[in-house]
Amino acid sequence: MTTLDSILAGKYPAKAHARRVAERLQASGYGRRGVIYLEAQKTRLIEDNDEAMPFRQRRPFFYLSGCPLPDSYLIYNIGSDELTLFIPPIDPENVIWSGLPMSVAEALRLYDVDNVMLTPEVNATLASIASGDGGKAVAFAITGQISEEIKLQGFFETNTSILNGVIGDTRVVKDGYEIALLRKANDISAKAHIAAIKASQTAVNEREIEAAFIAACIANGARDQAYHPIVACGQNGATLHYGGNDADLADPVTKQKKPSVLIDAGAEYRTYCADITRVFPLGGKFTLEARQVYQIVLQMQMETIAMLKEGVQWEDVHTHAHRVAIQGLRKLGILRGPEDELFDKRISVAFFPHGLGHYLGMDTHDTGGNPNYGDNDSMFKYLRVRGCLPAGSVITVEPGIYFCRFIIKPFLESHETSKYIDTEVLERYWNVGGVRIEDNVHITKHGYENLTTAPKAFEEVEVLASSRSTHA
Ligand code: GLY
Ligand code: MN
Ligand code: MN
Repeated sequence: MTTLDSILAGKYPAKAHARRVAERLQASGYGRRGVIYLEAQKTRLIEDNDEAMPFRQRRPFFYLSGCPLPDSYLIYNIGSDELTLFIPPIDPENVIWSGLPMSVAEALRLYDVDNVMLTPEVNATLASIASGDGGKAVAFAITGQISEEIKLQGFFETNTSILNGVIGDTRVVKDGYEIALLRKANDISAKAHIAAIKASQTAVNEREIEAAFIAACIANGARDQAYHPIVACGQNGATLHYGGNDADLADPVTKQKKPSVLIDAGAEYRTYCADITRVFPLGGKFTLEARQVYQIVLQMQMETIAMLKEGVQWEDVHTHAHRVAIQGLRKLGILRGPEDELFDKRISVAFFPHGLGHYLGMDTHDTGGNPNYGDNDSMFKYLRVRGCLPAGSVITVEPGIYFCRFIIKPFLESHETSKYIDTEVLERYWNVGGVRIEDNVHITKHGYENLTTAPKAFEEVEVLASSRSTHA
C-alpha cells in the first residue's frame, strides 16, 4: 500500500472538522452552548420520471461527517463535544430495488463520529439537547437546509445566518487527510490527462478526447468529474469555459488539423476535486506560434509558483503573471510600448482576462476566497482569491493567454489602447486559440508543494501527443 493509500484507509477527520468549526463560531462571538445541525442532500427524482437525479453530497454536511449518504442528518453537540450521524432506516419498499441500506454498525465503523442513529430519532435528540441545556442552547443551521419535519423550536435561538460562512472559512486550511484526497484526485487526473493526450493521436473529434479522459478517471477509481471537462481545439480554446466538446479536430474546409487542444478537466475523488489544464499539439508538434505562446504561459506559471508560501499576497502573484505576459508578448511583437505603461493601462488583460487561480477543495472554486467581482480595476475583477494565502490552503495556478476576438476587439477599437497592439503580428496568432496551464498547489509555511503531476514540459507533451509515444 502506498503512503497515500494508507492515509486514505483511515477515517475522514470529521470530528476534528466539527471542533474547528465550533472554535470558529466561538471566535466569532458565539458561545459554546448549542448544536451544529446539518442535513445531507436529499434523494431527488427527475421531473416526470421515477429515476433519481445525479447525486452530489452537500459540502457542509460532508465536511463534518465524511458521510456520502443522501437523506441523512448530523448533530454536533458543542458543549459535550458529541457528534451524531443519523442515517436512513430500512425502507421495505425500497429493498427490492436498491438492496439493504447501510447499517448503524457499518456507519460507526466507517465514519469519524461518536454515535450513529436512525433518522426518525433526530427530533427526539434535538429536543433532549435543547431541554438539557437550561434553555440556553443555540441551534446553528443553514438557511434552506432545514427539512419541514425537523423541530428546532426548543432552542433559545436558531441561527441560520452564520454557519455556512463559518464552515466555508474553516475549509480554506486543509489537514493532512484532505491534502491526501486532493493528491489522489490529482494522481487519477494525471493518468486521465495522459490518456486524453494519447487519444488525440487517433481522435477526429473533441468528443473522443473527453471520453478518454472520463474513462481513465472511472477506471482509476473516480466516478465523478469535479466539473464538466473542457476539451477545446484551435480557437475554441479562446473561450475560457468552452463546453461544446464536439468539434472536429481538423478544419472542415482545409482538412488541416488545428494547431492544439486545450483540456481543462479534473476528477472528483471522495468529494475532493482536481482542476488541471493542459495544452498539447495535434499531430505531435506545436506550430511556431503555439509553441511561443505556450512558452510564455509556462514561464508565467513557473515564476508565480516559485513565489508561493504562507502569507504571500495573492494580488502580488497575479500581477507578476501579468508582468511576465507583457514581457513575453512584447518580445513576440504583439504588444508595443514601455512595459510599465502596458501594465498601468491594463493592456495584458486583453490576453489574460481571468484571475490567476482560486482555492480548491470540495468545490472546484472553493470557499473562502473573498473575491471582489465589483472591483473596477479590470486586472482584479475576476480574481477569485483576495489577500494573503494561509499555510494549508490549496490554490490553482492557472495563467493563460487567449486570442479571443470578442475580448481583444474593444482594445483594438479604442483610441487609447489600440496603439499598444500590433495587429499585423497579432494576425498570425488567432489560430492558437488559447493556452492555459493549470496546477494545484498546496501552500506551506516555507514554500509550496505542487500536487499536480500531469506532464507539462514542452517536449514531454509533444512526445505524448505524437505516435512516437511509448508512455504507459
Ligand atoms: N476548471 C475551471 C477553472 O479552472 O476555474
Ligand atoms: Mn481552475
Ligand atoms: Mn480548470
